[in-house]
This record gives sequence, C-alpha cells and structure tokens, in this order.
Amino acid sequence: MNFEEISKRRTFAIISHPDAGKTTLTEKFLLYGGAINLAGSVKGKKTAKYAVSDWMEIEKERGISVTSSVMQFNYEGFCINILDTPGHQDFSEDTYRTLMAADSAVMVIDAGKGVEAQTIKLFKVCVMRKIPIFTFINKLDREARDPFELLDDIESVLGIRTCPVNWPIGSGKNFKGVYDRQTKQINKFTAANAGMKEVDTQLIELDDNKLDDYIGFDYADILKNDIELLDGASDELDMDKVAVGELSPVFFGSALTNFGVQTFLERFLRMTSSPLKRKTHEGYVDPMKDEFFSAFVFKIQANMNKAHRDRIAFMRICSGEYDAGMEVIHVQGNKKIRLNQSTQMMADERKIVEKAYAGDIIGVFDPGIFGIGDTLTTVNNVEFEGIPTFAPEHFARVRQVDTMKRKQFLKGVYQIAQEGAIQIFQEYNTGMEEIIVGVVGVLQFEVLTYRLKNEYNVDVKLDKLPYEHIRWIDESSTVDIDKIQGTSDMKKIKDLKDRPLLIFTHPWSVRMVEERNEGLILSEFGKN
Ligand code: G4P
Repeated sequence: MNFEEISKRRTFAIISHPDAGKTTLTEKFLLYGGAINLAGSVKGKKTAKYAVSDWMEIEKERGISVTSSVMQFNYEGFCINILDTPGHQDFSEDTYRTLMAADSAVMVIDAGKGVEAQTIKLFKVCVMRKIPIFTFINKLDREARDPFELLDDIESVLGIRTCPVNWPIGSGKNFKGVYDRQTKQINKFTAANAGMKEVDTQLIELDDNKLDDYIGFDYADILKNDIELLDGASDELDMDKVAVGELSPVFFGSALTNFGVQTFLERFLRMTSSPLKRKTHEGYVDPMKDEFFSAFVFKIQANMNKAHRDRIAFMRICSGEYDAGMEVIHVQGNKKIRLNQSTQMMADERKIVEKAYAGDIIGVFDPGIFGIGDTLTTVNNVEFEGIPTFAPEHFARVRQVDTMKRKQFLKGVYQIAQEGAIQIFQEYNTGMEEIIVGVVGVLQFEVLTYRLKNEYNVDVKLDKLPYEHIRWIDESSTVDIDKIQGTSDMKKIKDLKDRPLLIFTHPWSVRMVEERNEGLILSEFGKN
C-alpha cells in the first residue's frame, strides 16, 4: 500500500461570499502548481472564458458557475485537491456537500467587508464537521477595515477563535506589506503583474533601524503597537485547536496582486492535515492504516454529455487505492460493480484517471444507480455515515403544463431529486398529489425548469411559496404529528420517505412551535 502517496494529499475547499476573491486565489494556487500557465483561466470574465467547471448552458449564458469541480495539482511534494464550491449567491446544496468531502477549508474574506452572509452558512457546515478552517483576508491593496475589527468580526459572528499568522501594515494606497509573526520580518508590498508567479520580495527585520525609511515613521509606530497588543492578547497558535476547527490561523494578503499568496499556500499546506479518518456505522476508516478501497459519493452531476444523458458520480476516496476498472461493492445497491471511466479535473481539462489514492476525488460513470452518500468499498461491513440533507430555503409548487405529460414530469423531477439538485416534498395527509420542491438557492428553480424542458421535454409551472425555514421532526420526538400546535405561517409536509417536516415563513415561529409542543424535537439537518 502506498501510504506515502496518501500522506502527500491535501484535500480542501475554498469558501467565500461571492466576490471576496475565491476564484482569484484559486487561480494563483494553480499558477504556483504550474497547473495553468496564466492566471485568469479559471474564470476569466475579461477573456470571456468560463470556469473549468462550467458545463450547462445556463452557466454559460450567465457566466457563473453552478456546479462544483475538483482541481488537482502538485506543489513542493504535496498533491493538492482543491474542491471548488460555486461562489454565486444562488448556490445549491452541492456547495454544502462538497464541504463533506474536504479535510479542511480555506475561508476567503474581503478585507473591506468582513464576514458576509454566504460565509456564515458555509462556515456552519465546517463547524459541524469539526474540520480545520484557515482564513485568508484578501484585498489589502484596497481600503480595508481595521484588522483588529476584522478579527473581532470573525470571532463574534462565526464563533471561532483567531490567530493571525501575519499582520497587515496599512491598506489601499498606503498598503506597506505584512509582518510575519513567526519570522519577525516584514515583507514589503510589491504587486506582481497579472499572471506573474514571482513577486519581488523585500524582507525587513522589525528592529532594522531603517524601518522608518522603508514603511514610514507613522506605520512603523502603529505596527510596533499592534504587535505588542497581539503578542499580549491574541490566542497562541495551538494546532490541536486548529485541527478541530476551534481556532483559525489568519493570513492577510492580496490575491489579485499575488501578495502573500505563496506564503499562505506554503504555511497552510504544512498546517493542514493529510486525509482524515472517516466515520462509518461501525467506527472509523483510517487512510493511514486501512488498505482496502473505500469511498463515498458526495455529488452527482447529470448530463455532462447531453447526447448520452449520462451522469457522473463524484466520490471521495477514504482509504486505499483506485485502479481503473476495479471491482467494488456498492453497499446501498448490495451489488458488485466495476468502476469505469473515472475522470478527474486537472485545472482546465477532464482526464481519465488510471490510479487514485485516499484523499482524491474521482468522478465515475453512473448508469443511474448511485445516490448521495452511498458507500463503495472492496470489503464487507463498511458503510459510511450518510451526508446530511441541508435545509432548503426556497419552496415552490411545481406542476406540468400539459397534463398528459405527468409521467415524464414525475420521472424528471424524481431523477433530478436523486442527484440531489432539488428536494421534493408532498402535502402531509391532505391526499393531494402536488409536488413541492425545495431548493437551497433560487437559481436551482431555473435549473429545474430548464432541465425538465431540455431533457424531459416537459414545460412546468412554478408557484413560489413564502416558506423559508424547514425543520425535520427528529425520530426521538414524542408528539403526535397530527396534533402539533402550529403557527399560522407553518405548514406540514412530508418527504419521499414519508417523514414529516415543518416549514415556516418566519424564523421565530420555529421556536414558538417548539415551545408549544412538549416532546417535539426539531432538527436543522435531515437524514438521507
Ligand atoms: P469570487 O470567486 O470570490 O466571486 O471572487 P473573484 O476571485 O472573482 O474576485 C472578485 C473581484 O475581486 C474580481 O474583480 C477580482 O479581480 C477582484 N479581486 C480579487 N482579489 C483581489 C485583490 O486582492 N485585490 C483587489 N483589488 N481585487 C481583487 P472583477 O472586476 O469583478 O472581475 P474581473 O473583471 O477582474 O475578473
């Protein structure tokens, strides 16, 4: 077993609010890894090229990325897998699921804005998984908020402690550079031109008597004060806390001008973990001990090739090695199958993979048998814990315009739901057969309409519903579902497995219903 290959793996996701600079940072990483020649090819809005992950017309029309992809490259002895998460506001459940396949997360924050809405949602998933979170505070070449204030923001809004690894000196027009708290050196700011890998670095010792000349008397003074304050008050870089996501190492820089990116990448790669153990129903699978192959499906992408109406199931390998054509057990299907046609994203192209290791993500051809969270393994008795169902925030009643097409409509809706692109529900005990669709981002409604028309030849009518909050009724609840005392903005629905759920228009009604019904336990995440 090639444990050396596995220990080289670093599999992480980059999360951010749209426009914070996730794409730019990813591009710079790829540039260092030599995976692309010129930064700008991941999503060059300017060059009118689209993200490597773009595949649907709707993405092209809008120039945004709806689906997530994986990029692999090597850098200084590490084999890096970046799980790209769609950055658009209307992102889907795939974004959350992608985080289930990562061993750590890089959180990009705009220094002018601080923590933004999208970051909070994604962050919650990282916290649930207790994975390390590294923070890159970006755009220091622009007017930024006070760095202490930014840290406060992260700590109070996200509820995680922070430890700055470096510290900015000024910002915007007055951005002088960053002070490295470990080497105690100042890296003077110089911007690299677009696509350039190397930035001229000028390192200055903090006690250099020419410091005032280099960064100006005022800034030298502020810096010294800041450092004194930091050394006295900030958390120590306790790697045990980092490992469980309680403390986030923070880096400041500017992705666009390529400043601070390389230091960040190098430090981050050393601090973050190699492939983590993964929980099964029986215990853990350990990539550094277990030799058998095991993987779980975290994403299903349909119709990569429209002519064939095929699907690709993306899986994260949790232990062992993958060899093209190998035979594995598909646990949920209770069947032996051959894993063929595995593809992997290599920066800007899709390649056929012959071999892959724990930590890697592979996409295999799916004839329609896989579901989200499914386990594939070469041994018996291994089944990974499923991926939670994430709360949809938008709901609509959907029906086909042409009543003769009910069958196609249902087939389409069910298949798209199986891929995990939408969730479907029905009225609870009203006898009505209407389909209620729940999505995480409203763009998914458009994707659904588009796909039903294009792939199933069905026109649909969508009536949006006012509900925004969903709660699963936990199995341990001791209430009679039919007798739940609700609020006027609450509705009972059921999922495909007939499990009851409650949806609400107002967030405060959730608490109210819990208070009114003793023994009712509501959950924010559902079981698959
Ligand atoms: P996202 O993936 O998180 O949505 O953000 P993206 O990297 O696309 O960056 C959003 C915008 O912010 C882009 O500008 C990008 O050039 C800019 N940007 C990213 N990092 C920095 C930085 O360190 N400093 C400054 N000043 N700007 C930065 P745009 O005009 O929207 O797009 P484009 O036309 O440049 O592609």
